[in-house]
Amino acid sequence: MRIHMKRSLKIVSLLASAVMVLASCEGPMGPVGDNGPQGDKGDPGTTLACAECHNSTNPATAFSAQWSASMHATGGNAAYANRTGCVQCHTSQGFLEYIAEGSTAAISVPDNPMQITCYTCHKIHQTYTAGDWALTKPGAQTLDVKYAGADVVWDKGTSNQCVFCHQSRPVSPAPVANGDDFAIASSRIGPHHGPNANLILGKTPFEIPGAAVPTTNPHSTAKGCVTCHMSVPYGYQAGGHNMALKYDSHGTETRLLTGCTQCHEIGTSPYTAFNNKITELQEDVEEKLADLESQLIAAGIYNAATGLAKTGTFKANAVLAYLNYNTIKEDRSLGLHNPGYIKVLLDNSISAMTTLGYSVPGK
Ligand code: HEC
Ligand code: HEC
Ligand code: HEC
Ligand code: HEC
Ligand code: HEC
Ligand code: HEC
Repeated sequence: MRIHMKRSLKIVSLLASAVMVLASCEGPMGPVGDNGPQGDKGDPGTTLACAECHNSTNPATAFSAQWSASMHATGGNAAYANRTGCVQCHTSQGFLEYIAEGSTAAISVPDNPMQITCYTCHKIHQTYTAGDWALTKPGAQTLDVKYAGADVVWDKGTSNQCVFCHQSRPVSPAPVANGDDFAIASSRIGPHHGPNANLILGKTPFEIPGAAVPTTNPHSTAKGCVTCHMSVPYGYQAGGHNMALKYDSHGTETRLLTGCTQCHEIGTSPYTAFNNKITELQEDVEEKLADLESQLIAAGIYNAATGLAKTGTFKANAVLAYLNYNTIKEDRSLGLHNPGYIKVLLDNSISAMTTLGYSVPGK
């Protein structure tokens, strides 16, 4: 509420100053021009009056409130990650510069880093027409990390907007399955936070020989991320432009299920059977992650105190197992993004560690 009021005040005062600037810059009056032809009403190319967007009932007003409560707005990492190598995903300015330049080679570090905002994803205030709602990154995205030597392309409607940022970072050099021992030089080895797109497509680079990975994913929907994360919102706390999938309801952490109903029969509130199905999957994945973690600790690769890798030279398959662990942990859906694939990655990693002599304690 406080944020909302502050925002409206800011708009009013900036409107006032815009009028003042116009007034004070006025030069001598030129000859009166011909009246232009009248534009079609409702044509998307027609310039909109400010109040056609800035009014209390425009849906964008609610979207703005949802966004204000989101991690995109409040995460705080635009400041922390305001450096070369990070700004293209963590600041609005860096992302827009990447789009303008088509490359991340020479992106500047902004003086006043902005979090991910309306301006990051929409062409706000560019033409003052309805066209300003267009997305800034509408086309398909070729992911940074190849799969089996081939490019991986994400092309799923409006969620093309999300995946430049929500994809794996390359790991180079990378271990090769059954290959030479591998030296971990940096404790931060891994795909970074948010390898979501690669996992949803079931094309991550660290697969370990073992059970075959599934090649289809029921959750790789035609609209991708927006199917679930931008589904019918719960207030300002989840879905819509907040994009979270959990919210607090009177002290109880509650899942937002509005994106699931197009495929799942979820019954009526409190949706017990469906919630149990989700919990079962997530607990299964958590247990596999815990088993693998204990093996990685025993192998001296994982430092549980820092949550990072340990540097040193290890068997290639053990490093791959760590990278699978790290990818699935950073994805944070606990299996939901690609249930079958994620479970097989974990099972094969656990088997590989067992083969190397690190059995799961107590199993
Ligand atoms: C196509 C819709 C649209 C039109 C037309 C439009 N705006 Fe905006 N405006 C926005 C959006 C979206 C935001 C960002 C709102 C937010 O951050 O919640 C915004 C933000 C603002 C802000 C807040 C400061 C800022 O940049 O965040 C001001 C001031 C503003 N607009 C003034 C105007 C004025 C003056 C006009 C008319 C000349 C206008 N707008 C026309 C959509 C529009
Ligand atoms: C992280 C990216 C992102 C941010 C930030 C974002 N949007 Fe959106 N917005 C989207 C996507 C993607 C869609 C399309 C969703 C769909 O297909 O269901 C959308 C749809 C919309 C629409 C409907 C557009 C239409 O053509 O009908 C409006 C209006 C809108 N957003 C306003 C805003 C405002 C206002 C803000 C800032 C408060 C904002 N958005 C911030 C990604 C974003
Ligand atoms: C310009 C890069 C960028 C784009 C585009 C983007 N995101 Fe994000 N997203 C981020 C960053 C960075 C964070 C973490 C923000 C922080 O911590 O400051 C984040 C956070 C999130 C979170 C919250 C995670 C949590 O910790 O709770 C979700 C969910 C999310 N994004 C989904 C989406 C979806 C869906 C889209 C497309 C509609 C999208 N994002 C587009 C960069 C982006
Ligand atoms: C390819 C895009 C991308 C790049 C480049 C990137 N990040 Fe991120 N980062 C993200 C996304 C997306 C998230 C949000 C993931 C989530 O919340 O699940 C994130 C989250 C984070 C977080 C929050 C982690 C947490 O657990 O809360 C930190 C800190 C961070 N990044 C730092 C950095 C730094 C420092 C760099 C540069 C060395 C960097 N990032 C480069 C996309 C990127
Ligand atoms: C089939 C539905 C679905 C699709 C499609 C989907 N997600 Fe998720 N996502 C989830 C669920 C469910 C969770 C777990 C929420 C929880 O348990 O907290 C999740 C978790 C996340 C998280 C961790 C933070 C959080 O909010 O819990 C991020 C970030 C995220 N998803 C981003 C994305 C991105 C980016 C895409 C597209 C590349 C995407 N998701 C596609 C359902 C989906
Ligand atoms: C595009 C259709 C579609 C959407 C949207 C969708 N699902 Fe699914 N989901 C499926 C199908 C098909 C299966 C496989 C059959 C089954 O288990 O019901 C599945 C399986 C599951 C499973 C069991 C996975 C396993 O292997 O244990 C869970 C849990 C689940 N979905 C949760 C969700 C949640 C939560 C959402 C919304 C955030 C969601 N789904 C959205 C189609 C969908």
